[in-house]
Amino acid sequence: MDIKPTYDITKDYYYNFEHGPFYSGDYPTNLKVESVHLFGKKVDFPLGVPAGLLLNGRWVETYGKLGFPVLVYKTVRSCKYPCHPYPNCLYVKTAMIDPDDPPEYILAPKGYVPESYRLVTITNSFGMPSMDPEWWQEDIASLKRRLPEGCFLIGSGVGTHTGSTEEIAEDFVRVAEMLAEVGVDAVELNFSCPNVKDHEGSIYMDPELSAYILAKVKKAVPYVPLLVKIGLLIGDKLREFVRACAPYVEGVAGINSFQARVVDEMGKPALGEDREKSGVCGWALRRCALRFTAELRKIRDEIKADFLIFSCGGVTDRESYKEFINAGAHVVMSCTGAMFNPLLAREIRGGED
Ligand SMILES: Cc1cc2nc3c(=O)[nH]c(=O)nc-3n(C[C@H](O)[C@H](O)[C@H](O)COP(=O)(O)O)c2cc1C
Repeated sequence: MDIKPTYDITKDYYYNFEHGPFYSGDYPTNLKVESVHLFGKKVDFPLGVPAGLLLNGRWVETYGKLGFPVLVYKTVRSCKYPCHPYPNCLYVKTAMIDPDDPPEYILAPKGYVPESYRLVTITNSFGMPSMDPEWWQEDIASLKRRLPEGCFLIGSGVGTHTGSTEEIAEDFVRVAEMLAEVGVDAVELNFSCPNVKDHEGSIYMDPELSAYILAKVKKAVPYVPLLVKIGLLIGDKLREFVRACAPYVEGVAGINSFQARVVDEMGKPALGEDREKSGVCGWALRRCALRFTAELRKIRDEIKADFLIFSCGGVTDRESYKEFINAGAHVVMSCTGAMFNPLLAREIRGGED
């Protein structure tokens, strides 16, 4: 058994926030450097950790030292916001998800543990908690002083839904301004959380609204590269989204976790009655994410857009990293893979071809 999680799924988010990451090994040295330029900044390797695992500056710093140069600080808000209750992560047992024939439900059997980090698939359910902005702004400012050369720090933010569409758009602007203020290298707006019930989590399904918010944010912080994080879209829906939003962004990141009904052996919601659906990520998401990446790259090239593609979804080993590069990703990211194998960057960047 090779699973060595840095996030303890038997404990809640707050415990992990305060005490994690749980890694006491050596940091890899002599990692292969394949420099890429991201919006004018030289970065050591096109590999990163997407929004989610890096709960605060300590987590970001640890994964930077573990060899992931592109680092996304977990999604924050313009106000303090609570996390969904424990459990926040469960192992699930499923075949690889087929984007053309998605499963009706996904099983989280009690006591089940996958046999290898390469196959880990989980459901996660946090609801995008946030510390208050004073706290995370100070944390990011201090992190910036510690991060080594060759890294690229992305701040992810979400607007909080308080009423009208206009209000959520204004809150996206507010959080983007707060992130820009502390000098992140790029701002990412999360339009796709499978774990919140209202509008916040499904903005990416509405190209017009997405473009409206992105245009407002771009106008407010024109000097910071802007990324948008989306969930699984393919075919015409992806094309429509890209056509509407490409003028406002320098990067598209995806995919977010796949929203599914996750049940226990009795067919009951595995996370509790009030959380019938949640996000599924890790190995089983790979086929969906590869299809998304290949289609996104094709559309981008067809319309001669120049945004960069930040791909994630089921990258758990060196082979899958290469599959995403071949599919057209500019940067490949791993959340679940990096969570259960902190030495994944060494595996990917280590040896010769
Ligand atoms: C523990 C955990 C927390 C996450 N939290 C966020 C988040 O706050 N914002 C976000 O945009 N995505 C979040 N995600 C989704 C990941 O960024 C990623 O899109 C998804 O997990 C697919 O990648 P993976 O298969 O490598 O895990 C989270 C994922 C995990 C596993």
